[in-house]
Amino acid sequence: MIAIGSDHAGYEMKLAIIEHLKKRGEQFEDFGCYSNESVDYPEYGKKVAHAVASGEYEKGILICGTGIGISITANKVKGIRAALCGDCFSAEATRLHNDANILALGARAIGTGLAEKIVDTFLDTEFSGDERHARRIRMMEED
Ligand code: RB5
Repeated sequence: MIAIGSDHAGYEMKLAIIEHLKKRGEQFEDFGCYSNESVDYPEYGKKVAHAVASGEYEKGILICGTGIGISITANKVKGIRAALCGDCFSAEATRLHNDANILALGARAIGTGLAEKIVDTFLDTEFSGDERHARRIRMMEED
């Protein structure tokens, strides 16, 4: 199950990604926002981050204008590893190495076609499970 959310700047791209998720046969829940009206991205970043951190949702997708504000917000929630990706190499690497559980996209930075490919790569790549990567992920949670 995928939790998806955006602010107003990411709203149109989110609609396209939702259609893409439907084509892939993915189960998802849209945590808002639900229009182009200006909203505050931390509200939606937190909603999706808490949904994923709870364990109820396996992965999350967050979209704002740059992908930066919403990923910074999500990464403040314990257990969240949100990766802002603008290319497929990064999307693959962050799954393999970081076991990222949220993908952040910048709707003003990349086009929808690329965003869909990045989503595919993120969802289709498993964590490598390598000990060194698992150790580094554990270290992220330490003070
Ligand atoms: C909204 O104008 C914009 O600041 C937001 O979508 C995002 O880019 C913030 O990081």
